[in-house]
Amino acid sequence: MTKALAHEVLETATRPAIAPHDLKRRPTVPLNDLKRGFGSLSEQLQAAAARVLSSGWYVQGPEHAAFEREFATYLGAEHCVGVANGTDALEIALKALDPAPGSVVVTAANAGMYSSTAIRRAGLRPRYADVDPETLLLTPEAVSAVLGDDVSIVVVTHLYGRLADVAGIRKVLHDRGIAVLEDCAQAAGAGAPGARAGSLGDVAAFSFYPTKNLGAFGDGGAVTSSRADVADRARRLRMYGWTAKYEVGEDGGRNSRLDEMQAALLRVQLSHLDAWNETRRAIIARYVEAAEGTGVRVLPAVGEGHVAHLAVAVARDRDAARESLTAAGVQTDVHYPIPDHRQRPFLAEYAGTSLPVTEERSGQVFSLPCFPELTTDEIDRVCAALREL
Ligand SMILES: Cc1ncc(COP(=O)(O)O)c(C=O)c1O
Repeated sequence: MTKALAHEVLETATRPAIAPHDLKRRPTVPLNDLKRGFGSLSEQLQAAAARVLSSGWYVQGPEHAAFEREFATYLGAEHCVGVANGTDALEIALKALDPAPGSVVVTAANAGMYSSTAIRRAGLRPRYADVDPETLLLTPEAVSAVLGDDVSIVVVTHLYGRLADVAGIRKVLHDRGIAVLEDCAQAAGAGAPGARAGSLGDVAAFSFYPTKNLGAFGDGGAVTSSRADVADRARRLRMYGWTAKYEVGEDGGRNSRLDEMQAALLRVQLSHLDAWNETRRAIIARYVEAAEGTGVRVLPAVGEGHVAHLAVAVARDRDAARESLTAAGVQTDVHYPIPDHRQRPFLAEYAGTSLPVTEERSGQVFSLPCFPELTTDEIDRVCAALREL
């Protein structure tokens, strides 16, 4: 959706509600529709794909190098290291910080198990801090409450596209030698130009999974950092630990590469990211207004510090709200229903961990359709359905 359309989204906020019987006959408003994303840029994307196919370079060629440069500049970070997906990016970023083996990594338990998976794979131990009830993000106070001498890293997830208080958390860690890893998978483009998510901590991880704000046409990820030592280590770790061809200088290496095709397609997408993020915010603004005075509250996404990756609502009776939306032809999902410390394999290990906000909200949150190519009519239909809750 273009900027002009984003304004139309806002202007139609006052249109009369659509009668419920009309809603039922129309196709469901999908949570996402990746085909529309391709359609809106098909010529540029096909030209980029053709360029790669005819180039003879398919892995770590000129498109990859250009994407790494362009993405780092866009964020305001010194270095970008392309990798195969967001979970690899987290794991490589953790290892690139060179933590003491087996040390503790503080993270949130409400972010879909991604950081926990990477922490465990890196041979480190997750410890969970509770989140703020309004933002659902880690806060300096919550992090501070679980710090100890065994902590080497704090993973801060900019959940749903909202920037967490990285500066505040860094202040709490001051002088303790604890590093900050930003999980930016849901927050591509959040923040002020030149100081965006991905440039605020010691290192950061991105996912370019197709549904992300900056999505590839397959898997992809990146590690970003302004620390040369960390970026160099990440570069070695993503390719067998090589310091030079066939020469291993780093233990713990693997093969995790962003391919040339994805890099070329991501370069096209990157030039549209800011406009898409603005459209996403406009969609959520409509939902926030429509849900006022109902039994659900849509979390606002205001300003450049929030890129509205997901439109998340909080309901006391989530099942009833979702059922009513489904009946009105609106698809919903839950991000995320089970906190990490309550996932089955880890129940015994975290039996003594209590995270009241995380636990309560995991039973209340649900997500509404939010992607830049939603039509005004579809947004109207979601709003009409929200007003009925
Ligand atoms: C917050 C967060 N971190 C990490 C990831 C992992 O990314 P990937 O699926 O590319 O491994 C995702 C997305 O899936 C995510 O939403």
